[in-house]
Amino acid sequence: MTGRPRGRPVGRSTVGQFMALILLWLMAAFSPAAAELRGHGGPVRALAVAPDGRLALSGSFDQSAILWALDQGAAVAVLRFHEGAVNAAAALPDGRFVTGGEDGRIGVWTPEGRDPQQALEVHQGPIVGFAVSSDGRRLATASWDGTARVIALAGKEIRVLNGHQGNVNGVAFMPDGRVVTAGYDATLRIWPLDEGAPTVITLPTPLNAVAVAPDGEIVAGGADGRVYLLRPNGQPRTEVEAGPTPIIATALSPDGRRIAAATVGGAVAVVDRASGTVSFRLVGPGLPVWSLAFKPDGTELLTGGSDRAVRRWDLRTGEHIGAVAMTRPEDFLAPFKGSRGAELFQACAACHTLTPDGGNRAGPTLHGVFGRRIATAPGYNYSEPLKRMNIVWDAQTIAKLFELGPSRYTPGTKMPEQVISNPDDRAALVRFLEEATRSR
Ligand code: HEC
Repeated sequence: MTGRPRGRPVGRSTVGQFMALILLWLMAAFSPAAAELRGHGGPVRALAVAPDGRLALSGSFDQSAILWALDQGAAVAVLRFHEGAVNAAAALPDGRFVTGGEDGRIGVWTPEGRDPQQALEVHQGPIVGFAVSSDGRRLATASWDGTARVIALAGKEIRVLNGHQGNVNGVAFMPDGRVVTAGYDATLRIWPLDEGAPTVITLPTPLNAVAVAPDGEIVAGGADGRVYLLRPNGQPRTEVEAGPTPIIATALSPDGRRIAAATVGGAVAVVDRASGTVSFRLVGPGLPVWSLAFKPDGTELLTGGSDRAVRRWDLRTGEHIGAVAMTRPEDFLAPFKGSRGAELFQACAACHTLTPDGGNRAGPTLHGVFGRRIATAPGYNYSEPLKRMNIVWDAQTIAKLFELGPSRYTPGTKMPEQVISNPDDRAALVRFLEEATRSR
């Protein structure tokens, strides 16, 4: 905002407009949409954002996937299906999501569905990467069973891409529909559309990730911390150092201009693809970052890390969006400011509300939970095993839930695993909940 439109007097309306702008800015800066997304009980291993930019899906080592409403910063649903870590996630053009697991299985989800619409068992080992063809009809998978596959989502046809020595870590579609795979064997393989032999390109280091730009340029992330850029015919063009430790994930902005590369050391470099230079590095908590996804409009990057949170970054500035939101006094929590219990509740807030009008999120409202029998909050669709349990929630049983962890105390629950091992912390959380969930 520089200067004011020419030929207009500085009057009340301009001041009014200015105030309105400030207000809008404040609302944007302090809206919950800015908060980081906490809910997983383990590192966030996979991320995908829907084409409309409103829903995101995260997959975790905690064996669950979470569907997030990005506008509200709230969890909409916990999706349980995989027996093992959820290593891969993709968004389809029609709004559906796909998850791939350590169990070698694939789940296809509608945004409303709480069970997979389609379940496929195609790999003998963990699935670690996905790519979706531009028409959304084919899914390519990378697996530690040493193969990649191309699956027709609507049909039965599956093509097996066999040739890598060891783990296939990444897969991507070329603009013409060919598939590129990246392997621990330090090769990139470009597979022709027919059954012919692939073009094999050997790079100096094992490869952990691959992406392809709209113009066909291939972007590969290496165990040596370098991003390799290759022309569509496989000829190396240039390379960029993302960090000193292995790259675990790469992503391309939808317009193909930017590359994000995340490393085991926690560095995330945002690279300008044309010049092959680092535009900036996100200053994060220095943890391994496992997953990356651009918002479809390219303004924001989501990262998933070992601290179990999904962080959001503004790509115009490289700033962590959550850092702004964290200082926002949550109106409802204001009376509990500084309390340890309220602090611990931050780990629950994405999924549970506390007030009568808060409603259900991914988890049932906790309003009135004390004295309530398990699985009886109105209007919430609980897992079957919980409905048969004989638990009434009180200070003891809630403390027990987090002493043992939800999966041991309430087997069959969808709630991601979280254990609070410090008894003082458990007591503080219970005290806070008792206060905050009471009718008043
Ligand atoms: C990622 C979402 C998520 C997070 C984070 C989460 N929960 Fe849950 N929680 C759930 C879901 C889902 C259920 C219902 C389980 C089912 O039906 O399988 C649940 C159930 C519960 C229940 C039983 C409620 C009832 O009506 O029987 C309690 C109590 C609870 N959670 C407390 C907490 C607390 C306290 C935290 C934070 C320390 C927390 N939860 C974190 C999703 C979550």
